[in-house]
Amino acid sequence: MLQIWDENWQLDEQVCTCDIHFIEWLDAEQIKGKTIYHFGTGGHHHVGLVNMAKGVPNTILGITASPKEFDCFVKLAIEHAELSRSYQVLFGDIYLLNSRLMPRIDIATAFHLCEFRSEKQDAYGGHTDKQVAELLLDMLPTGAPLLFYSGSFAYWQAEPIAKALAEQGRIRHAGTFKSLEIYRKLS
Ligand SMILES: C[S@@+](CC[C@H](N)C(=O)[O-])C[C@H]1O[C@@H](n2cnc3c(N)ncnc32)[C@H](O)[C@@H]1O
Repeated sequence: MLQIWDENWQLDEQVCTCDIHFIEWLDAEQIKGKTIYHFGTGGHHHVGLVNMAKGVPNTILGITASPKEFDCFVKLAIEHAELSRSYQVLFGDIYLLNSRLMPRIDIATAFHLCEFRSEKQDAYGGHTDKQVAELLLDMLPTGAPLLFYSGSFAYWQAEPIAKALAEQGRIRHAGTFKSLEIYRKLS
């Protein structure tokens, strides 16, 4: 059985700031015309909805492992006919990430890395957290941002992965924006 996330996460700046800070970072950096892979949409689909409300500066592909959050996306896509032109959501487990099913991407978020990997994914050959980060890097062009969320409860596990990749020369730390750590691909 697929390891699902059986919740419907609502936007709450007191508890989880990553999506709010991500939108602020995109604005601050004036990022436009990019394709973004977003790990963990929430049932609120804030990143896709704000992108639409701002006149579609970017194109976003999110992933959720929550059937309820995916249902919310379907409802939103029906309600807002224009939404799915710029925002699409995959239902699935990021530990099954397959580059052959992916579009070309320019930016990736790894906000929830290490939060949801368990032995359940071993049963179907899921990637490790480090492999997910490496696969995302493989898909990004040189210089592209890969973002981590320092407010994650699992950041104590995700940060060493980022640092190991930096030591291997695959990424460099390029800055901090509020609760986000921005790395850029070197190789
Ligand atoms: C705590 S919620 C945070 C949602 C949103 N990023 C926010 O800040 O409000 C975690 C998100 O990660 C997604 N998620 C959890 N495990 C996942 C997995 N294995 N693959 C893909 N998405 C997953 C959930 O579906 C949910 O959207």
